[in-house]
Amino acid sequence: MKKIAVFTSGGDAPGMNACVRAVVRTAIYNGVEVMGIIRGYKGMIEGDFVKLDSYSVSNIIQKGGTILKSARCDEFRSKEWRQVAYDKVMDAGIEGMVAIGGNGTFTGADLFLQDFNIPTIGCPGTIDNDLYGTDYTIGYDTAVNTALDAIDKIRDTADSHDRVFFVEVMGRDAGYIAIQCGIGGGAELVMVPENPDSFESVIDTLKNGRENKKTSAMVVVAEGEELGNANVIAQKAKEALPHMDIRVTNLGHIQRGGAPTALDRILASRMGMAAVEGLLAGRKSEMVGIINDQVAYTPFADAIHKKKPLNKELIKMVNILSI
Ligand code: F6P
Repeated sequence: MKKIAVFTSGGDAPGMNACVRAVVRTAIYNGVEVMGIIRGYKGMIEGDFVKLDSYSVSNIIQKGGTILKSARCDEFRSKEWRQVAYDKVMDAGIEGMVAIGGNGTFTGADLFLQDFNIPTIGCPGTIDNDLYGTDYTIGYDTAVNTALDAIDKIRDTADSHDRVFFVEVMGRDAGYIAIQCGIGGGAELVMVPENPDSFESVIDTLKNGRENKKTSAMVVVAEGEELGNANVIAQKAKEALPHMDIRVTNLGHIQRGGAPTALDRILASRMGMAAVEGLLAGRKSEMVGIINDQVAYTPFADAIHKKKPLNKELIKMVNILSI
């Protein structure tokens, strides 16, 4: 393989730049030329490619966001547009690709391989940590720390005013961010889609807290929670507990930004290097992961479709430690 491409796609995640850097430098180390595709599949369709040399990835390991930009691209779902992208990739002489992103990114890469047999290796870049085949995804640790920092600050004001806060965190359909920052932030309750809650149990937790002399409370709600979003749940709680002063904070996209933590920089570097080494060894249509501190390759189909279970022990722990 003489020339490969790297791109970032879907929601950005802190550490994507560290991964791009590792891909570029590992490829160059192995005598392979690298092109960057700007804005993921959108840029592939438009032929928006730039040559990346070693210097072009200097001074990015510590930066959030992605220097290659990112986009969600609905057109790539259709074979017609994938054909357009394929022609652009062929014109540029690209023989293999590293895709950094989440579920949607790997679904696109898998379709592209089925259509045109272009080898692609994926690096899991998403704050959600919802991909099977890796213990952690790039950006997850940073997002958890960002959310935790916000939760600590909210707790200060919750305590001063004797308030109950419902704090919504990201994660799409997964509760990983919620459970981690809920435990780290000493939340009274963590609501995640993997462990359906009843509204009555939410009310009971808040009432019990008051009876146990807690004057304030934090409830962390994963955005995919089945009872509804934090606003909906808080509204119902206000009706059931009119004597409590209840507020809502949605942490939103701040969770996607900021400098990556050391863990994310190192994870991303390992994954970027393993992606190029995998491609050069003839691998295709697999996602790089780190499982028990070892590099592992998982077929895209499994990474996308198999459910990574949330450790239920952690949920039990929240219930015990918040009494
Ligand atoms: O997948 C990452 C993520 O931040 C999810 O947690 C969230 O549901 C989604 O992306 C938000 O996407 P967008 O920024 O396109 O609204």
